[in-house]
Amino acid sequence: MTSLADLYFHPEPERVLAALRADEPFLRLDDGRILVSRPVDVAALLADRACVTEFPSHRAARRGRRGALADSVARALLSREPPVHTDLRRALADLYAAPAVAGRREYVRQVCRELLADLQPTDDLVRVLAGPLPYRVNCHLVGLTDRELDEVLPWIRRLEAAAHHPDPETIRAANDAVRGFRRYLAELLAAPESLPADSVLRRLTGLLTGSSLDELDVLDNVKALFFAGAEETTALTAGALARALARREAGQPVDPDALVEEIVRRQPPIRHALRWTTEDVTCPSGIVAAGQVVLLSLTSAAHGQLDSTASGPSPRGTLSFGRGRHKCLGEHLARLQAGVAVAELLALPYRVVAVDAGAPLRSTELQGLGTLPVRVDTEPCHGESAVPHPTSARTAQPAAPYRVAEPPEGGANGSR
Ligand code: HEM
Repeated sequence: MTSLADLYFHPEPERVLAALRADEPFLRLDDGRILVSRPVDVAALLADRACVTEFPSHRAARRGRRGALADSVARALLSREPPVHTDLRRALADLYAAPAVAGRREYVRQVCRELLADLQPTDDLVRVLAGPLPYRVNCHLVGLTDRELDEVLPWIRRLEAAAHHPDPETIRAANDAVRGFRRYLAELLAAPESLPADSVLRRLTGLLTGSSLDELDVLDNVKALFFAGAEETTALTAGALARALARREAGQPVDPDALVEEIVRRQPPIRHALRWTTEDVTCPSGIVAAGQVVLLSLTSAAHGQLDSTASGPSPRGTLSFGRGRHKCLGEHLARLQAGVAVAELLALPYRVVAVDAGAPLRSTELQGLGTLPVRVDTEPCHGESAVPHPTSARTAQPAAPYRVAEPPEGGANGSR
């Protein structure tokens, strides 16, 4: 009997996953799904046309069989295959491509500075910085202001809660949130000329005529992009911040972008990709039969790619952002945010020190830190011009956690 929790919460998960890669590359879990652990097989399945994200249940949901939430998840980019998927990706590609994202650096820097201005003498960097940052940045790309983000944030929280705790009450609240979101966005899309030119809202409005999408497809994909990858970006940023503080305390140099890349390659924030095989698929280690649900372990693939003793070939490039037609739309944006957050933290004119290593999320979907407690040293750290932390004279307030840690099973990538 094996479950994902047995594997990922094992005291030595790396050893267990290494044993799987060696002896049982296609492991049948006790819920019937197949866990794929070797990097070569994960890469092959991600690239295969017969290994899809459009599950039979998604098609049923789009026929209105399970409520607004199920319907909206089934319409999101990650749940679609061509031609709808191709139309959506084409409309969004250049907004999230490396050059356009690089053009948002100054905005991301400004947001990091604003968030860090609220840092208290004892605080949690997930609450202050890594948590809120991706929602602000996603919202900016979608084309709304911070004030408008405050309006939609309660709906986003309900949708994320339903991904983590799918009990009837939470699902009911999330169904209401989907309906509220759709009404709100429909009003915005009715006046496209008032939307920012380089925004998701404007791009997806263009798909309302002459594409394979209907109005709900457009509304639900705008909605999904408000919180797509937000929890994953938080996990990546928190990991990078923790490592940066540890390195600085050890007197080592910190290159923010290189450090972010280390986390991406060693601790992929998303643990696996989920697929359905529509035909038999041949991979380097064997055949996966048609009609199977497969979990492509990005955690194991990452370990396998780093394992210098592994025999056999390993695919080039990280798999942490996926591969093939569903490769992460927001990978450049996520890297940018984590790198800028590290640089801005280290540039503060006072010293921030990690109190401990932070608490890891206990999730079979996401990997990373759920909290990163810090204290602010009253000693300035950048020479004579440095100033002490502005609130260090005040009594330290215990910081409320950004999010209550972690769910049993279920990530909330808004794109799912
Ligand atoms: C560290 C942060 C992130 C990680 C580790 C991550 C990882 C991934 C992975 C592994 C996939 C592929 C899933 C699959 O094939 O089943 C994916 C897809 C996706 N990601 Fe991210 N992601 C991150 C941040 C973001 C951000 C900031 C956005 C914002 C736009 C985003 C938007 C998406 C979308 C829309 C998809 C679906 C793409 C498609 O189906 O064509 N992600 N992400």
